Amino acid sequence: MNRKYRKTVIAGNWKMNKTPSETKDFMNQFKSIMPKGRWCDIALCVPAVCIPAAVRAVRDTRVGIGAENCNANASGAYTGEIATNMLVDAGCKYVIIGHSERRAMGETDADVNAKVLAALEAGLTPIMCCGESLEQRQADVTSEWIAMQIKLGLQGVPEEKIRKVIIAYEPIWAIGTGLTATPEQAQEVCESIRAVVRKLYTSKHARAISILYGGSMNEKNAFDLLAQPDIDGGLIGGASLVPEKFVQIIEAANQPTV
Ligand code: 13P
Repeated sequence: MNRKYRKTVIAGNWKMNKTPSETKDFMNQFKSIMPKGRWCDIALCVPAVCIPAAVRAVRDTRVGIGAENCNANASGAYTGEIATNMLVDAGCKYVIIGHSERRAMGETDADVNAKVLAALEAGLTPIMCCGESLEQRQADVTSEWIAMQIKLGLQGVPEEKIRKVIIAYEPIWAIGTGLTATPEQAQEVCESIRAVVRKLYTSKHARAISILYGGSMNEKNAFDLLAQPDIDGGLIGGASLVPEKFVQIIEAANQPTV
């Protein structure tokens, strides 16, 4: 982390977990133990049907609610899809884009790019995900793969909007597996992502962008991961479903930074 130049962000991704009623219960518990400090931004990205309950519950807090996906089109005949302006109107501040679980369902880099642009246009903060498979890591093509995802995902994002984008590095082999990238492995890729942003924009922009790590991040390993200079927070799956665990990760963000 480097709080001098950029925001630290601890974000939850609930994936397809919790009902609206369970959302209410989680929020009540979470609010009662949430750290008061302001050392990081807190986001919870929840299933679409849980957004109203989540937004209502965090109204008097500093937690921002997000969606887990969006459609890049403004409106129209896209049965089952949700447009960015609908998310804004529902009270969302964030939207996860290009999660590997969605890419596995057919989402392409071009789709990710269109969604990032639509989210920015609507005033949402996109959390754009990238990450390599185990085969790619073993073939030693991680940095090329990630650079490609970043370059394609950010196409057409103007200089004045790039600071608004959050990038999440989530190695696919570490998601939901209990296998975490070591702090050094995660740092190496997050540093390379910042270098790509530096090439595409300027060093000032690269310094200002928040890059999160995701993949089996939990209350035990968060401190060491967040201690890395280029890891500005976490995108947390499983551990964000349990208020006590999520709170401990937020507390791990309260450490001295470089
Ligand atoms: P886990 O923390 O459950 O591994 O999930 C990570 C993730 O995919 C967050 O988007």
